[in-house]
Amino acid sequence: MATLEQLDKNRIPQHVAIIMDGNGRWAKARGLDRSAGHKAGVEALHKVLEAAVKAGVKYLTVYTFSTENWNRPKEEVDALMNLIAWGIDKEKEELIRQNVRLAIVGDISRMPDFARNKTLECMKAASHCTGSTLAIAFNYGSRFELTNAMQRIAQQVKEGKLQPEEISEQTVQENLMTADMPDPELLIRTGGEQRISNYLLWQIAYSELYFCDTYWPDFGADELYDAILDYQGRERRFGKTSEQVKTPSQYPLS
Ligand code: FPP
Repeated sequence: MATLEQLDKNRIPQHVAIIMDGNGRWAKARGLDRSAGHKAGVEALHKVLEAAVKAGVKYLTVYTFSTENWNRPKEEVDALMNLIAWGIDKEKEELIRQNVRLAIVGDISRMPDFARNKTLECMKAASHCTGSTLAIAFNYGSRFELTNAMQRIAQQVKEGKLQPEEISEQTVQENLMTADMPDPELLIRTGGEQRISNYLLWQIAYSELYFCDTYWPDFGADELYDAILDYQGRERRFGKTSEQVKTPSQYPLS
């Protein structure tokens, strides 16, 4: 298990994205109902955020509720809404103490009023915080996000504010729900599955992927530091050769 001291402080990923999977299986293994797993998941998020801030991670984006999660049984959806509202309210002072602002990636218009109000209250209370950002992906799906971005860009073209040939990667990036964030260098998925589940598809083009078997409620500071240490051992080439990355001065045109 890695510790904070083992990490190279000069190579901490600025942005870590997490697919928090395994809450249901964690609960089942203990004879508990699934909502107990999600509740334990809120506690895990508390620990992981604290560890991420200590390490100097600037953005932590967590997949809390996908556009597909509305299809879960109503009792589970209701339990998740209650937990999200409770968790965000409970963490409000803690976010401020750690100088962390809260952001939402996704569409919270479908969130029940009580949960949306708690979320907006917390965003407002922590809006002055400048240390790190906790981004909660809620009612989020990449295809939904990209479809929205295309509609917005098409509208700008229709209004004559943009020519089709002026549409660049930057135009797309600026119309995503993560427009004000850098792309994640590291994407972690807990719970043993190795898939992306419609999460940040554009943004993870060059992210390092880290999959682990640990169920989310058991994922803590040590596991986060394991993932970061693993990331620090990788060579990020962005399409270049290993030699170009290792000795950039010998490749002036690259
Ligand atoms: C996936 O596990 C987890 C979720 C769909 C919900 C994650 C939500 C939280 C941890 C709560 C976050 C709260 C705040 C305050 C942001 P799963 O249910 O799919 O697990 P399984 O694959 O084992 O069934």
